Amino acid sequence: MLQHTHIPLDVLEAQANQCHRCPLGDSRNHLVFGVGNPHARVMIVGEAPGKNEDLQGIPFVGAAGHTLDGLLELADLTRDEVYIANVLKCRPPGNRDPRPEEIEECTPFLREQTRTINPEFIVTLGNFATKFILKTDRGITSMHGKLFRTGRFKVFPIFHPAAAIYDRTKMSSLEEDFRNFGRILKEDTQEKQREAEKKRAEEEKRQHEAAEARANGTQNSLF
Ligand code: URA
Repeated sequence: MLQHTHIPLDVLEAQANQCHRCPLGDSRNHLVFGVGNPHARVMIVGEAPGKNEDLQGIPFVGAAGHTLDGLLELADLTRDEVYIANVLKCRPPGNRDPRPEEIEECTPFLREQTRTINPEFIVTLGNFATKFILKTDRGITSMHGKLFRTGRFKVFPIFHPAAAIYDRTKMSSLEEDFRNFGRILKEDTQEKQREAEKKRAEEEKRQHEAAEARANGTQNSLF
């Protein structure tokens, strides 16, 4: 079988720290590589660092981060159990949208990061993350709250939390999507537990039958 080699996160981060493939590498205060559980079942992908993230080198520490923390709770998740990263690792000046050439240059880091973490689920926040991860031109409005698949990953697009800061009507949709995502996770866990239990029972039955066959064989040989 083909072995896939994964680049360790610290190696990737060191490479990203050297990166000046686009001008954002020159204007950043800090690279915002990503944080969280390196073996996370759920990876959250945002857009790009804002002012506070650029100052601290940590994703989602500003107002959108505060909103995200509350939303994660609705899905019964904590920051420590998920992994959080962005499409762009450096802050676009004035928080403007990422440019196509910046996405092109920066996303090899996200691609490798995703391969290394190998999450089961990817939650994409907003248009930029959704379009990149799902290789689609469809907008977030028609995609949010539904489960998609790309390769071995299950992808659940949700509006970007910052959208609710500017448009409060988006908050109820964000909350509903995070609650539903929590339910999907729970159901997936229960399904896995049922499968494991079924396998265990089948193995027990197989061992029991093998023991009986051995016992019968012994008896037969006695007469
Ligand atoms: N918005 C993002 O998409 N990412 C951050 O890290 C902060 C705000």
